[in-house]
Amino acid sequence: MTAHRRLTIGLFGFGVVGEGLYKVLHQTDSLNAQIKKICIKDPGKKRNAPEELFTTDRDELLNDESINVIVEVISEADAAFEIVSTALKNGKAVVSSSKKMISEHLTALLKLQMETGLPFLCESSACASIPVIRNLEEYYDNDLLHSLRAIVNGSTNYILTKMFEEKLDFKAAVIQAQQLGFAEADPTLDVEGWDAAYKWTILLCHAYGIVASTRDILFTGIQNVNENDANVGREKNYEIRLVAQAKKLLNGRIAAFVLPQFVKHDDHLSFVKNEYNGVVIESSFADKQFFYGKGAGSFPTASAVLSDISALRYDYRYEYKKLYHHTPNQLTQDFYVRVYLSFDEWSYIPREKFEWIEEWHAQEGRKYLIAVIHFRHLAEDDWWKKHNTSLILAPDPIIEDMELRKLKKKSLELAGIS
Ligand code: HSE
Repeated sequence: MTAHRRLTIGLFGFGVVGEGLYKVLHQTDSLNAQIKKICIKDPGKKRNAPEELFTTDRDELLNDESINVIVEVISEADAAFEIVSTALKNGKAVVSSSKKMISEHLTALLKLQMETGLPFLCESSACASIPVIRNLEEYYDNDLLHSLRAIVNGSTNYILTKMFEEKLDFKAAVIQAQQLGFAEADPTLDVEGWDAAYKWTILLCHAYGIVASTRDILFTGIQNVNENDANVGREKNYEIRLVAQAKKLLNGRIAAFVLPQFVKHDDHLSFVKNEYNGVVIESSFADKQFFYGKGAGSFPTASAVLSDISALRYDYRYEYKKLYHHTPNQLTQDFYVRVYLSFDEWSYIPREKFEWIEEWHAQEGRKYLIAVIHFRHLAEDDWWKKHNTSLILAPDPIIEDMELRKLKKKSLELAGIS
């Protein structure tokens, strides 16, 4: 594709994002891009665009030689993969926002890009309006990137804000997130952390060259977080966020997970409220950088799709530098974390698994403790999700081997044992 080539688009999906893109494209004349056909599932719905644009026959788009870009913004992952793979095989560049599809078919998508040499851009699939994928691809070299901490799901962040700052109950907050177009068609994908985990696998690939699936990443959502937890947090000056985290450990391996976390008031992520997302990147010489923007919703997501379409005019494609030009990084579960757990009965808590317990409150009703535990005790068993138990990571939760030994020695000295 040459610079400023005219882009003729076949669009799949006319929901929150598809319609947003249609409107945004109409306000961006300079782009030299035009939607030729829109494929939808249900022809009966009333839509705000000329009727002749719509079809239910996907081949009208995929086999039209004048269409050189397929934009796919549907929510069914398997159908999206069919569309995307056929489009690439038919010689079309692809822009996609389907995080579930990309995460579940990452290996196949990498192979298709390699075989066809065609661009597959997906900036809108993670953190919507924040240009984080292209940033990770282009700016941060493998050796420079120490850690990423991010809020990648707008709905859960919106729900947490409404619950703990505006005292809305959980169900009402979920309904609001749905009505505003932030939540997935099935909102349990947001609430139970799936959506964030899909996005995290995509970002791990661009940040560290890791090709992982959600099975390789420990994650949960905000389904067990409750008012008591928020109160304990408030006493300590902490707020609760669903944080996706990845850190290069001293042994060169990558710790990665998506879990609720207490954040201090001076943490950049505590600034992120409602449907906003935020990414804190720590690199060798620049220290911390903070990216902030809307992570869900029609126009913010459409703006990232638009930016990908615009990048196609210059034949931009991801090189997956960390994957193909470096020795790819590997995930590890060999580290410790500091956790807060709240629970109804001590008998539900395997106390023998903790390295040590720093604080515990065993009053009637809801009990809680703060302790240090090896990460594999969370990864290999889900006791911490059962029986109404709630797990929230402490601020700065990762503890590496060497630090653990130092902390243990210090606590023994304090106890007068060594
Ligand atoms: N359900 C998603 C979210 C939409 O709330 O972040 C944007 O990917």
